Amino acid sequence: MAAGTVAAWSAYWRSGALHSLDTSGQVGELAMLADWIGWLDALPDGARVADLACGNGLLARLALGLEGACHDPGRRVHAVDIAELAPRWVHDLDAARREQLRWHERTPIEDLPAVEGGFDAFCSQFGFEYAEPTAAVAALSRGAAADARLGFIVHHADSIFVRQGAGERAALHWLLEPAGLFDTAARVAENLVARFRGAALGAAAERVRREYNRLQQDLDRYGSEHPERQPVLGEAREAVHAALVHAAQTGDAQWLSRQREAFDFALLRLENLIRVARTEQQIAGLQAELAASGWGMMPPGLVHQPGTGTLLGWRMQGRFRPPSRSTTPTG
Ligand SMILES: C[S@@+](CC[C@H](N)C(=O)[O-])C[C@H]1O[C@@H](n2cnc3c(N)ncnc32)[C@H](O)[C@@H]1O
Repeated sequence: MAAGTVAAWSAYWRSGALHSLDTSGQVGELAMLADWIGWLDALPDGARVADLACGNGLLARLALGLEGACHDPGRRVHAVDIAELAPRWVHDLDAARREQLRWHERTPIEDLPAVEGGFDAFCSQFGFEYAEPTAAVAALSRGAAADARLGFIVHHADSIFVRQGAGERAALHWLLEPAGLFDTAARVAENLVARFRGAALGAAAERVRREYNRLQQDLDRYGSEHPERQPVLGEAREAVHAALVHAAQTGDAQWLSRQREAFDFALLRLENLIRVARTEQQIAGLQAELAASGWGMMPPGLVHQPGTGTLLGWRMQGRFRPPSRSTTPTG
């Protein structure tokens, strides 16, 4: 994964968010928790569990018996992610659970660390599909104990996240394009900084200011044509406005650059999400790769939002049952 994308995820997790789902739309925050609790509660006692591409550890938390899941004091939970993480909830863990949990930040699934005896369970929510599939499948099969379980929820190419994401991606492209809102705001900020330092502003600065005002009107029009993109457009408007006020009052234009970086990162994450989401044919390919590596896979299922039926993703489940490796004749 490109360094920029790792930075984009690290920045996201630094905010302290517990999961990555945009729940501003039609998805309840806890939509999938009940399923996960059932899956985790059915693991054997003392299981060594890996939460793959864990983010700030939504599943790791459940695996430790929080949020209504059963607590197995013998379980060991390994939370693995390529990004830097900032899970705030660990500060409230009791000493026993803290001992049960191990973080592996900046660790790609493809380089999954080995644990003694192998992993008994791999879970992943919207994570495994981000890894390079062949290397990630090989890492799992290397690291699995006999009869290990696999439970993944994977992005679906037609899910609500991909459909909402495509609209948001278009809005971000619009905001971030050359001579777009962020670019023009940066030129306004330069002028405001110059004025803060005592320079007189001329006709060129006035043209930039008018251009910025015109873009604000375009923003209004764009938002009314695409009401579902209003949240990201509104956030951008507020961020740019606050950064320009800050530049005018302090002579510091850096804040605007940092705001822009947050939107650049959001675009990168969305582009990734849309790229890794799997069609039916692609999920069949991933299943086949796992099967060829020793995983007995159940047919993939669909995950829907209870109540509304909104499509959330693919469900993959399997058990590690490689053919016996022993070829030594006996007797
Ligand atoms: C959509 S988030 C899901 C996070 C978490 N599972 C959740 O449900 O909140 C995807 C995560 O995959 C991580 N990721 C991407 N590629 C990875 C890889 N090759 N190995 C490990 N983690 C990866 C990102 O850093 C990010 O935290």
